[in-house]
Amino acid sequence: MSTSRPDANDTLSVKDITFTHGEIFKVVDDFYNRIQQDPVLKVPFQSVHDWPEHIDRITHFWWIRMGGQAYQFSQYNPVPKHYFAGFNPELLKRWLGIFNDTLKDHLEPSQTVVWLLIAEAIGRTLTIKNDLFESEQKKGD
Ligand code: HEM
Repeated sequence: MSTSRPDANDTLSVKDITFTHGEIFKVVDDFYNRIQQDPVLKVPFQSVHDWPEHIDRITHFWWIRMGGQAYQFSQYNPVPKHYFAGFNPELLKRWLGIFNDTLKDHLEPSQTVVWLLIAEAIGRTLTIKNDLFESEQKKGD
């Protein structure tokens, strides 16, 4: 169910740690600016043609992933997208390093710890699902 888009000062809380929608947007925006400058990760991200739209979708992804209410229609289908982008554990490690640096530059340490833990958990799940997806692809060959 969609509601209206949160204001920058609207909040969500994970455990007792609070994030504003504006903080989530700032982190996501800066993170993908860094990704576009990164010599390794900018390569798989060449599939993104509309960066403002990507940043908007991923801001929404994190907002709902951390417990906020959906406010726009977005369907995510990350496993095939990551598989075809060449997702692997080394790229994930690099992604998480840049993500951690970005979190530290914008947020309090307690917010950084919580958000990074969630990202690491998603990274582990993506790694497992990526391997399963790869086996399925190979069976179809
Ligand atoms: C925990 C780490 C990561 C998280 C939480 C994450 C999250 C996401 C999400 C939610 C999307 C949107 C998916 C959709 O539209 O269905 C996305 C897209 C994408 N991700 Fe990741 N990702 C992670 C790591 C990586 C890594 C390591 C790579 C390197 C290959 C990567 C490459 C991409 C690319 C290229 C897209 C854009 C696909 C497109 O729309 O063209 N991601 N990611």
